[in-house]
Amino acid sequence: MRFSADFLDKIRSRVPISAVVRTRVNFNREKTNTSRGDFWACCPFHLEKTPSFHCNDRRGRYHCFGCGVSGDHFRFISELDGLSFFEAVERLADMAGISMPQPDSETKKREAKQASLYKIMELAAGFFEQLLQKDEGACARSYLRERSLSSGVQRMFRLGYAADSRNLLKKFLIAKGVCNSQLETSGLLVLGDDVASYDRFRNRIMFPIENASGRIIGFGGRALFPDTRAKYLNSPETKLFCKRRTLYNFSRAKQANLALCRGEVESKPIIVVEGYMDVIALVSAGFEKAVSPLGTTLTEDQLHLLWRFSSQTILCFDGDEAGYNAALRVLDRALPLLKVGLSLSFVLLSNGKDPDDIIREGGKEIFNELLKQAVPMADMLWRREIQGQAFKTPESRAALEKRLRDAAFTIKDESLRHYYLQDIRERLQMFFKPWTFAPFHKESKTKRCNAQNTTLGRLCFSESLIHSDLVKNRKDPILVREAAILVTLANHPQLWNENFETLASLEFSNQELTKLHCAMLDIMAEENLDNADSMFQLLDKKGKSAIMACIVQLVRNIGMRSAFAVAPIEEARAALKQALHLYKRAHCLHKQLREIETELLENLDSSVFALLSDVKNELERTNATDALIEGFGLWDVDTNHQNDSLFFRESATRA
Ligand code: UTP
Ligand code: MN
Repeated sequence: MRFSADFLDKIRSRVPISAVVRTRVNFNREKTNTSRGDFWACCPFHLEKTPSFHCNDRRGRYHCFGCGVSGDHFRFISELDGLSFFEAVERLADMAGISMPQPDSETKKREAKQASLYKIMELAAGFFEQLLQKDEGACARSYLRERSLSSGVQRMFRLGYAADSRNLLKKFLIAKGVCNSQLETSGLLVLGDDVASYDRFRNRIMFPIENASGRIIGFGGRALFPDTRAKYLNSPETKLFCKRRTLYNFSRAKQANLALCRGEVESKPIIVVEGYMDVIALVSAGFEKAVSPLGTTLTEDQLHLLWRFSSQTILCFDGDEAGYNAALRVLDRALPLLKVGLSLSFVLLSNGKDPDDIIREGGKEIFNELLKQAVPMADMLWRREIQGQAFKTPESRAALEKRLRDAAFTIKDESLRHYYLQDIRERLQMFFKPWTFAPFHKESKTKRCNAQNTTLGRLCFSESLIHSDLVKNRKDPILVREAAILVTLANHPQLWNENFETLASLEFSNQELTKLHCAMLDIMAEENLDNADSMFQLLDKKGKSAIMACIVQLVRNIGMRSAFAVAPIEEARAALKQALHLYKRAHCLHKQLREIETELLENLDSSVFALLSDVKNELERTNATDALIEGFGLWDVDTNHQNDSLFFRESATRA
């Protein structure tokens, strides 16, 4: 039914928009200016802690500066409560004390039809529910028990049973006075050309499907026996039931969301799963905001619906190929619709499992863990484009870039498109760059240290050492870390005794360091040293002063005071501990990296690539942590020249 503009205006002028909004939020006192008709609150459409939702009585409109929703009285009510426009008008007319206009005869007829359809759906649901508890339902009851659906859960979802009969429901509805044409439009019967119509759902567990306001508009039915042709059968499209716009369990999810907006419960994402049973399993495990489409993939309409109620949506489809492909289709569908503040992420299950299986086998803790690992859209896009492919030729790399960029260009939102393109560039760079490590200290600092190298003539490197790996790779964090460990141990030999086994088993990436390590081990095995001077003298005897000088320089360059004799033993011990920790982690990661390399030669699967980038990231993180560790006990190298004699323990041996 169409309302006249006058009628709607009359409602708007009688009820200030703040009065409508006030029924759902608490206005913020500080920001609100009542005399100007300006009201502020935390937005009921998205989660926030500071108020960015604004409404103005003079203009009769609301707008949220956080999530961008805006509208008038009717929109506010209909969006928040999931009402149709008509229902919203009805409610607000009531609030304004205005009676609804008399519908024209056409509208009257249509409304009557709709009302009777709703009534039929309600009748049928009640009928199925009752049948489940009767003798005929014994088989269905035991099936539900087997699937561990408690009677409480059965009641909550109003599960029912459709008997193994062609006419039971039809007869029941006719007895209730439902006429033939109504029966035909209900979708509950199959209409034959030359046979009489008969019950669509037979010998099935029945799942009533509600619209956003909780009224039943259709059914899903699960076959009791595996040999039935369709495992699940859904109502056809009817005047009430539009699959594309409906989500199973949406009205409950919405209620949970409203409670959440009012701050009554903790924040939870909306979880989209594939099937009825997944929804029920999740809700039973405490994830009330679980919904599912109805045998189709998630449509544009459904995405809009979800985003209207929750900016955070997680897709968790079955861990089989069909589920994965369906998720990818959603990805393509969602990209153009993305807006700042809306998000979609993907939980990827494996081994053909669905959320129902996961909850049954691992409980809600496991599922919570999986939710935490949800893959963002950008990652999902990346995974899809690289999976199962080799990128050995420039052509294949260019094609990859094109595919990624094409996908990003479907994003209509300018800002998001910009950042997606940037993200793609960065990923490609990372993906194809040779496996080297980023320099880990700042250019300026390196320069400064190099300048010092030339003035520090007393550190006479042998020709061979200057050109050795050590000098060439002096920025390699692994090398520097190993050098730091050895210098610390030379300057504080007593630390050897505190952790001899670990220290003795260290492996070094460089042959010369390995030899130096062995020499120190020998010395420690021969005599129990506790001072640096003796250590340096003995190393000198073993022909190790040149390499020692070299690594001392490396460690000095990073300004790591704790490695030198001047540092108190506690400081040296702590720094050594951290260096060892990083050493172990990096070693482990490098081993993994080599394994992945080998694996990649045979298996160019996206999961291996994902692993590769994980390990690379982890390594970079380790190196970044290194940079922090270097700051440990740092001396400003420039201002402490006078301390050089203390700093350079080896100068004592050379003097
Ligand atoms: P699934 O086959 O994954 O269902 O289909 P499920 O939830 O794991 O079912 P159980 O555990 O075996 O009972 C997922 C969804 O796809 C639709 C239904 O909506 C179902 O919930 N579907 C599936 C159909 O519409 N028809 C079918 O024949 C099968
Ligand atoms: Mn499934």
